[in-house]
Amino acid sequence: MRAVKSIVPTHRVQEGGGFWVRRPAAMGSLMSPFLLLDEMGPNVSAPGEAVGAPWHPHRGFETVTYLLEGRMQHEDSAGNKGELNPGDVQWMTAGRGIVHSEEPHEEFQKTGGTIHGFQIWVNLPSKHKMMSPRYQEIPSSESPIAQDEGIWARVIAGECLGINSSIDTVIPITLIHVKMEKNAQLVKQLESDLNGMIYVFSGKVTIDNPLQVKTHPGSPGIGSNQQIRDGELALLTKGKEIMIQSETESEFLILAGPELNEPIARYGPFVMNTQEEIHQAILDYRNGMFTN
Ligand code: FE2
Repeated sequence: MRAVKSIVPTHRVQEGGGFWVRRPAAMGSLMSPFLLLDEMGPNVSAPGEAVGAPWHPHRGFETVTYLLEGRMQHEDSAGNKGELNPGDVQWMTAGRGIVHSEEPHEEFQKTGGTIHGFQIWVNLPSKHKMMSPRYQEIPSSESPIAQDEGIWARVIAGECLGINSSIDTVIPITLIHVKMEKNAQLVKQLESDLNGMIYVFSGKVTIDNPLQVKTHPGSPGIGSNQQIRDGELALLTKGKEIMIQSETESEFLILAGPELNEPIARYGPFVMNTQEEIHQAILDYRNGMFTN
């Protein structure tokens, strides 16, 4: 059984063209294989004032965009073009290099409104960093949904309650969006050696701690029921399953993946293993090699 190892708070920072995100303070190796977990918004914009992320490059990892509210449009140097509506997922493997734009949809721009969603960066192991870029899009209507008493879960990657995702990931990734009613309980199986974490973005949940020591019957026990609140990322200990109890109506992401255990060299939108590879990425981008 997994327990909470540590709670990482989030802070608000501005990204792209100036939209606000909520981001856990710990990044990189602490969250391996996840490099970034940004909760975009909720940002409310007046007509004509919504901002996105204009054309920019990526190399060496994958970007996952999952929209909860609003409407976005995107385009990339490999010729992919599309839109994201609530519940849609875009899983983009930048690999050796891609240049793309991620903007509010032009129709949304006319009306204004709220944009809320996630962008998650998944690292690639060194042997796959220079793979060909690829692009997977899962519209909300085709997204696998798992349901149980008081539980609704969109299986973006991996498995939940016997339902499998349709996304093909380079390394085994679990990414589940869960909504739970008050007092619902979810037991999620997870391969024991994967790094596991939970990000709560509404309400409050507790994780059952197997190490709890009850001093007398009925006592809450020492170290029992570790709470994760709205805006907190909990890093979990190793183990075969997680037992999540919803204290209130709650919403959260379950994330898991293997520890890559490789050096991380990071410069803005490039994430490689060495400084030399970062310099090469900058040169290649300047020489237009990301768009060929
Ligand atoms: Fe991007």
